[in-house]
Amino acid sequence: MSFPEDFRLISYLSRLEHAVRFPLSSSYPESMSIDTLFELAGKEHRAPFMQTMLDYPPLRGTPELLEAIAATYRQVTPRQVISFAGADEAIYASFQMLLEPGDHAVVITPNYQSLESVPMSRCDVTGVALDENNDWALDTAKVRAALRANTKVLVINFPHNPTGALISREQLNELIEICRERGIWIFSDEVYRLTEFDPADRLPQLADVYERGISLNVTSKAYGLPGLRIGWVACQDDVWMQKLERMKQYLSICNSMPGEFLTTLALNARAPILERVMERSRSQLAALTAFLARYPDRFSLAVPKAGVLAFPRYTGPEGAEVFATRLVEEAGVMVIPSVTYASELNPVSEDFLRIGFGRANLDQALAEMGKWLDKQ
Ligand SMILES: Cc1ncc(COP(=O)(O)O)c(C=O)c1O
Repeated sequence: MSFPEDFRLISYLSRLEHAVRFPLSSSYPESMSIDTLFELAGKEHRAPFMQTMLDYPPLRGTPELLEAIAATYRQVTPRQVISFAGADEAIYASFQMLLEPGDHAVVITPNYQSLESVPMSRCDVTGVALDENNDWALDTAKVRAALRANTKVLVINFPHNPTGALISREQLNELIEICRERGIWIFSDEVYRLTEFDPADRLPQLADVYERGISLNVTSKAYGLPGLRIGWVACQDDVWMQKLERMKQYLSICNSMPGEFLTTLALNARAPILERVMERSRSQLAALTAFLARYPDRFSLAVPKAGVLAFPRYTGPEGAEVFATRLVEEAGVMVIPSVTYASELNPVSEDFLRIGFGRANLDQALAEMGKWLDKQ
């Protein structure tokens, strides 16, 4: 594979997301203005923000930011955190520092493409498919069977993009035990954590419960603040974190100071910010589910357990890709066909559609889509 190959999902989004009337496919919830953030976090922070010097912050992040991030974990200290320019930079940097030729990685399919293509640019990779006929369940026996003597990392992403699937706490424990026995790292993309509709489904963060667990997070999803572009990695292994720091020296080096200030503010005032997102997500998932149920011969949905993405199977005669193209061209409503989630490792069915339900204009987008569907 030549790297970087086209990031199919990002290409699709870049071509259409800002050009269509109803981008009904966003992976993030409705955002908020800086004004609203100050209202939620406390207006007394406004003056210090305006007086912030536009210096380079420290490479790993300001002490305030690292402390605010560490406070979201149970075991992790500020010294065990490195901030990045979004989760995407952290994914790239982490696999550069984890994997080399001769290693082997195991990743879940379907996936957020960089979770497979960056490892594939470094070493051999085996994909383990979630079961599309069983609510996207993971069979841990398949993970076990995929491991080799040189397996260095298992890459997981729960809550999962694009299905909203989760594994149980018992399954997570089993994965940790399998990996611990063999000294395998677990890279855990947790960007949708804290968006679970039932809090009892919430998994612990890997960096809290496994000494070789690497937790990835970002402000984009649960907090609904993608424009801050601050992500982070947490891991208890100080030696590996020093290696990761070295990689960042060659990438962004450090983040933007306003981004770090506002992220610190958001994390320290996270309860109302998270609740705001969840309140909308809960009611909008109900609205979307009711909408899809009106067209039983077109859509069949395994209801997501978390996140702001639904991934229904499209059962209409023309197939998901043609449907998505006609819907955007004729009604200005953009959903994403699952062909954009194609994997080099396993076949991914092209029969699914990614529909985002976190944005404020969901009702209008569904009304538009309904009008169009009713004319077909
Ligand atoms: C599972 C997953 N990981 C990582 C990212 C990257 O997050 P960001 O674009 O905020 O860096 C995304 C974005 O959609 C995602 O869905």
